[in-house]
Amino acid sequence: EKKIIIAIDGYSSSGKSSMARALASAIGYRYIDSGAMYRAVTLWGMRHGMVENGNVDSEALVSALPGITIDFKPMPDGRQRTLLNGEDVEDEIRRLNVSNNVSQVSVIPEVRHRLVAMQQALGEGKGIVMDGRDIGTTVFPAAEMKVFVDASAETRAQRRFSELVDKGVPATYEEVLANVVHRDHIDETREESPLRKAGDAVSLDNSCMSIEEQNAWLLDLYNKIL
Ligand code: C5P
Repeated sequence: EKKIIIAIDGYSSSGKSSMARALASAIGYRYIDSGAMYRAVTLWGMRHGMVENGNVDSEALVSALPGITIDFKPMPDGRQRTLLNGEDVEDEIRRLNVSNNVSQVSVIPEVRHRLVAMQQALGEGKGIVMDGRDIGTTVFPAAEMKVFVDASAETRAQRRFSELVDKGVPATYEEVLANVVHRDHIDETREESPLRKAGDAVSLDNSCMSIEEQNAWLLDLYNKIL
């Protein structure tokens, strides 16, 4: 059976991770959340006083990179837990204080080079669904299937806010919306592999779609491409 690489890019909280994970489990592929890797590096920097309130000591963080390892532990439900130097940080990297700093860490070219190399290594055997911002443009420009997901900022903020409430993470809708808009802006305007739709990616605006509709749409696209 032919194995391919599937790249799902898009804006923050567009639902791309849920879609990517559902597709991976439906077709028996490995799912990788590349954003978790940028979040893990950000958390490491916060813990070591190199990242605070949107300010990053990039020189110090870049020299620390060789000592930062990131792994994924697959769970029986198809989810993955992110390990930072062996420690499970999956819950911590989803907090708003990490979200508020992650885009500032993600602009650093050396951070991107290192994480992109790790992502490419994970895709070596194909049979992988990866979501992020630059998967179809930079990480896997030759991916056989590319999707670019978008929805209005308000829709996305509402989704992220509900997710945080469900997890019992303290946040207000207003601060989540502000974070989503701010993060998108940094992601779109950075020099190094900015958030951009690949020329050969298929666009999906899922503002008015249910999760079931999105999953069906994605599986249908996969079956057409294969
Ligand atoms: O996907 P998620 O919202 O968790 O990603 C967090 C942040 O990580 C993004 O806002 C972006 O700054 C960065 N990121 C990136 N490239 C990727 C994935 C995430 O720059 N491929």
